[in-house]
Amino acid sequence: MGAGSLPALAAPGGKKVTVITGSPHRRGTSFLLADEFIRGVREQGAEVFRFDSAFRRVTACSGCDRCGLGAAPCVYRDDMFELNPHLLESDLIVFCTPLYYYGFSAQLKLVIDRFYAINTQFHHGRRAVLLATAWNSQDWTFESLVSHYKTLCRYMDWEDAGMVLGYGCGTRSSIEASDYPKEAYELGQKVRIS
Ligand SMILES: Cc1cc2nc3c(=O)[nH]c(=O)nc-3n(C[C@H](O)[C@H](O)[C@H](O)COP(=O)(O)O)c2cc1C
Repeated sequence: MGAGSLPALAAPGGKKVTVITGSPHRRGTSFLLADEFIRGVREQGAEVFRFDSAFRRVTACSGCDRCGLGAAPCVYRDDMFELNPHLLESDLIVFCTPLYYYGFSAQLKLVIDRFYAINTQFHHGRRAVLLATAWNSQDWTFESLVSHYKTLCRYMDWEDAGMVLGYGCGTRSSIEASDYPKEAYELGQKVRIS
């Protein structure tokens, strides 16, 4: 997939942060990481836009290529049209997902695939954060997710600004008893946002 040189429709600036979640559980484990990260990042003055993809209307990219990787709008007029301007204005993009079969949840992956329609403008000059939870706690639990995330950052030419990987966090009570919420809060407090 190439990245052309079309002018940006909007540029990152200020202290805008977009958080995209992928869980269908409002009282779940990964939402706790998102909540705590947002609490921390707001303390340093960030303007946060949160997009809970499981509760939004996001159509799967059909690969029709009518967008031309950002030359024209996507044919699907769904909630991505609300999200896209926030993505393009944000210095920091936060991915928050439960581990589903060792990758992003489908709900979040739908959103990532739809980056295709803003691909050209969305390249360069941003940072990203990964927040994730999993039931399992083997040392290889997050290997494939982290590899995907890092490859995405590499392709997009974004800097990885940090990760919180919640091993053994299959239930709300298990994550509440762990240090991961604090880790997410502290990452929010210290991550560079502009
Ligand atoms: C469809 C599905 C797939 C899952 N796949 C994995 C997996 O591959 N590895 C793992 O450790 N946990 C897996 N889990 C467990 C979830 O990652 C875990 O329960 C997580 O805490 C759920 O996050 P949430 O409460 O934010 O939704 C899976 C759960 C579901 C529903």
